Amino acid sequence: MSMPTLPVIDLDVFLSQPEQSAGVTADALIAYGALLLHDSRVSEEDNSVFLDLLEDYFNQPDHDLRQDERPELGYQVGVTLENTEKPKCAVDEPCLNVIARLDPAERPLDISGHQPDPKCRFFWKMSQKPPYETQFPALNSPNVVPQANSITDRWEPIMEKWGKSMKNAVENICEMAAVGLGLPRETFKEAGKYGPHLLAPTASDLTKYNKKDTILAGFHTDLNFLTIHGRSRYPGLHIWARNTGKRIPVKFPPTGSYLLVQAGKQLEHVSGGLIKAGFHEVVVNASTVEDQTIERRSKDFPDRPLIRISSTFFWHLSSDYDLAPIPSLASRARSVKSAALKAGISEQDDVIYESMKVGHQVQNELRHIALMA
Ligand SMILES: [Fe+2]
Repeated sequence: MSMPTLPVIDLDVFLSQPEQSAGVTADALIAYGALLLHDSRVSEEDNSVFLDLLEDYFNQPDHDLRQDERPELGYQVGVTLENTEKPKCAVDEPCLNVIARLDPAERPLDISGHQPDPKCRFFWKMSQKPPYETQFPALNSPNVVPQANSITDRWEPIMEKWGKSMKNAVENICEMAAVGLGLPRETFKEAGKYGPHLLAPTASDLTKYNKKDTILAGFHTDLNFLTIHGRSRYPGLHIWARNTGKRIPVKFPPTGSYLLVQAGKQLEHVSGGLIKAGFHEVVVNASTVEDQTIERRSKDFPDRPLIRISSTFFWHLSSDYDLAPIPSLASRARSVKSAALKAGISEQDDVIYESMKVGHQVQNELRHIALMA
């Protein structure tokens, strides 16, 4: 059977003919929970400069990196070092059921040991201060700027430039999704106007973690609204597109300005389950090893650190926003579900999307992944 491919949405088309591509975007999110976005405003050069900066940053000694840790803030700014975050799925029954329903050949690497992920991460907040008193100040604390001489000066301009490209692109997807779902265009973008958005690169040391089938980030969904990824220099991201049951190794078209967008838990919640958060994992896979990506990179760039950086941006709803299913979407979710049941497909346990503040939903999720006490 051929590998399912993700729908490609052209942002340039949306900017000129909004109605047409909005429907395709909403349908892609409902059917797959993910899509590839072409945005000619995004510069591959900016991504490359960003990847270089992060390789240099994570190549610093442990002692220097530790200066940027903020455990008292749930690691929501600054660095998280390897073996801190645990994939929640290993102890979460509905998530284990998702794995059990997959064909054994399509399952993620085994996370049942509930080992923490051997990945490091940096959270750089890209939010706007709310013009009201937030109930969640810890989720809205100031950024950490790394202090090493070779890094400090270029840090903020590079992070801001690449972060803004990703933020603009994902906010356009928010508008397209809203229009495609029959809502006013601003619905999601406004709900996330003061969200604690994060430019959130992860780093894996490929000199240490380079054996095939090493888990870099175990099977999980993201807790935010939409996640957007730029091109990485190494393969290894697998996603499970809803309704395919297949593990899909993400491959960007070889050239051009493409981004991968995946739905997170907040979008699942406001849509009453019409759109499901997309599962994914990052691993050392066959193409990382067999295609000799690591060897090739070390030969071509012998002076560069061998660190896999993922270029990730988490777009969030505002912490004080009331998270509850939008009635028209919830009723469409029920029809989709009963149609699936009639067709003999039972895809997930019943989920109740209780009303709560977004900030509470985030805190609940952070406790599950061992980032907050
Ligand atoms: Fe993720």
